[in-house]
Amino acid sequence: ARIKQAEFVKSSSRAKDCPKDGKPEFAIIGRSNVGKSSLINALVRQKDIALTSKKPGILICCDFVCSWTAGKTQLINHFLINRSWYIVDLPGYGFAHASESARMDWSSFTKGYFQNREMLVAVLLLVDASVPPQKIDLDCANWLGRNNIGMTFVFTKCDKAKGGKGSRPSDNIQQFHELIRTCYREPPPWIMTSSVTGMGRDELLLHMSQLRNY
Ligand code: GTP
Ligand code: MG
Repeated sequence: ARIKQAEFVKSSSRAKDCPKDGKPEFAIIGRSNVGKSSLINALVRQKDIALTSKKPGILICCDFVCSWTAGKTQLINHFLINRSWYIVDLPGYGFAHASESARMDWSSFTKGYFQNREMLVAVLLLVDASVPPQKIDLDCANWLGRNNIGMTFVFTKCDKAKGGKGSRPSDNIQQFHELIRTCYREPPPWIMTSSVTGMGRDELLLHMSQLRNY
């Protein structure tokens, strides 16, 4: 499950511009500020990692992932891992100051992505464990469920979540599960993470490798 190599491939503004090489991919989605870029950085950050660009001569540092995706640009970013599978950073949803039309754009844009990616292994739906359950996250989970898109809940910022200890989920996470339980016969898998402490990193990488080989 180790990441030996990670490479930024491209930013696409439309689903039809995404890479078409048939490699399996995982989409990362969640509210703006939930920690998507931080999680990708934490996943690919490793001492012996080779972060390279397709453009010769440009070596990408770890901050690259953050700087590319932190600009609120509405782009689909593909990162190729170990030359064999992708992590895809999708734009954050529900940005507080976004206008109604910008939100509509998010949904049509992102739905276009989901409806066109045959190689999508699963969606990692990031949920901020440091705040109580948010309606928009539940709506998103329900939308994915209704569309039969496999998902895993990845709780972020668990270092800040109150009430959790060791492997025991925090109050917010328990509340989230109670709300989700009413919507699913079989609740999706879930993992607790922190990009600050590295919690859940290995578990998430192992989970992704199991899904790829499934
Ligand atoms: P957008 O690209 O704007 O949609 O945001 P994002 O989801 O990519 O979030 P980003 O990774 O930029 O993180 C947002 C903020 O949360 C930053 O200030 C991070 O430092 C902080 N953050 C992210 N992950 C964690 C975490 O695990 N723990 C803590 N304490 N802070 C975190
Ligand atoms: Mg980001």
